[in-house]
Amino acid sequence: MTYQTLLVEQRGAVTLVTLHRPQALNALNSQILADLLAAMAAFDADPSQGCAVITGSEKAFAAGADIKEMQAQGFADMYGHDFFAGWDRFTQTRKPIIAAVAGYALGGGCELAMMCDFILAADTAKFGQPEIKLAVSPGMGGSQRLTRAVGKAKAMEMCLTGRMMDAAEAERAGLVSRVVPTADLIDDAVKTATTIASMAPLAVKANKEMVNAAFETGLAMGVQFERRLFHALFGTEDQSEGMAAFVEKRHGVWTGK
Ligand code: CAA
Repeated sequence: MTYQTLLVEQRGAVTLVTLHRPQALNALNSQILADLLAAMAAFDADPSQGCAVITGSEKAFAAGADIKEMQAQGFADMYGHDFFAGWDRFTQTRKPIIAAVAGYALGGGCELAMMCDFILAADTAKFGQPEIKLAVSPGMGGSQRLTRAVGKAKAMEMCLTGRMMDAAEAERAGLVSRVVPTADLIDDAVKTATTIASMAPLAVKANKEMVNAAFETGLAMGVQFERRLFHALFGTEDQSEGMAAFVEKRHGVWTGK
């Protein structure tokens, strides 16, 4: 099967998925979401496949949700369509998924990496939740998963300032399982995935469910709460200004309204 925004190949028992919107640094639009959901459903249903790897380019794993797609939306559109709710289906994939991250993993890109079961980082990786600079907030689970992964202090600082974390800091903080040289990232991720795919399939599923149960207790309410506030921010003037400023390549001027 071919996809508009993904390159998908099977390497033995490993499905390697490469996000491919190079003109937008792999910004996550509704087409990427649709393609990823279809690719993950096919992966889950294929008994020859045991583990997936999701990666991007050397410059960007993904630079966030697509700002240009969201720019003109208001609260009624976002709340009415429960924007981003489709990503919950991605997290329901039953077989393991490794995020292999090089370059920018920002906003929704960081959130997508955190929705995977663990993150392998290239030494160039940079993680951040810069939505505050657009006068919005994380909306794909970032405020909840980042806080669980790295603790309140770092998560709060990153969400409030938009500061990026480099690969070394991300490893120290427990956000990524390991850091590898960029040139080795895909080979290492596929090798790790091959090891997982070589394990008993039911045990793999059970282990994944167990670790997630420990991690996610109480998460659902937090994600729901976050998404509603994210939608609400689309009722503010500063959201319109922030997204317009990004597109026009200038600094936003805030009114606090
Ligand atoms: N959405 C849409 N387009 C994006 C994008 C995004 N998130 N990130 C980058 N692009 C586009 C740029 O607009 C640009 O397109 P044009 O050539 O048509 O102008 C192209 O990708 C290349 O980007 P830059 O020229 O900006 O590349 P750079 O190397 O100068 O900067 C960057 C790289 C620092 C990552 C910068 O692109 C950037 O800051 N991107 C936005 C990051 C961001 O704010 N992410 C959060 C989005 S909101 C979100 O994710 C909500 C949520 O919770 C899910």
